[in-house]
Amino acid sequence: MKRLDHVAIDGPAASGKTTAARLVAHRLGFVYLDTGAMYRALAYLALVSETDLDNERALVRLSKAHPIRVELDQTAGGAQRIFAGDHELTDRLSSSAVTAVVSTVAAHPLVREAMVREQRRIADDAPVVMAGRDIGTVVLPQAPHKVFLTASVDARVQRRGAEMEAAGVDVSERRLREEIDERDRLDQSRATSPLRPAADAIVIDSTHLTADEVADRIASIVNSPSSG
Ligand code: DC
Repeated sequence: MKRLDHVAIDGPAASGKTTAARLVAHRLGFVYLDTGAMYRALAYLALVSETDLDNERALVRLSKAHPIRVELDQTAGGAQRIFAGDHELTDRLSSSAVTAVVSTVAAHPLVREAMVREQRRIADDAPVVMAGRDIGTVVLPQAPHKVFLTASVDARVQRRGAEMEAAGVDVSERRLREEIDERDRLDQSRATSPLRPAADAIVIDSTHLTADEVADRIASIVNSPSSG
């Protein structure tokens, strides 16, 4: 892999990684990749095809039959688009049904292998700000800039609640808290590539920060002469 100027942003569910990645990428003129959307796309395919979520080989077959492809958008405010085969899934990936099963799908080593291969291919092409759970530890361990973004569970519940409300979805705070707790537990305890900060990651607690403030901090880490 070429050693490009990549930025890895990892952290738990709803810690603000995707927004931070998008803002930082825009400031630096990089592309951004939200890797969670790739796992969500496979979870969506598994649900609609009624594939057994514990059947690793069936999930890999599904991803081969409908290759998951990301179209990156470098324009200001542009968002990535996700396709499975020729079908665009971008707007289907934040549903509660997908969120409820995605950590189970993402725990399978062979599923991860396929996703990581595609993520590295994207990173080989251009400087990228990549957000996920294992970017600094597994996908791009040589990335010169690594951030681990955290926030209190309360703050994460509030943020996810506001997002759901904006999308017109009515979910109780108790349900959101349970969902975030459960995903944290599954993502941190899986055997392959569990969520944890890379040894050389800078930890940012975003509990009391706005999205712009988080992006400022990350951009200043990237631009600091001692970084990378
Ligand atoms: O960031 P997100 O909430 O969209 O991620 C959805 C799920 O995908 C998350 O619960 C765990 C999994 N995931 C992963 O295992 N590795 C990544 N690099 C990104 C996401």
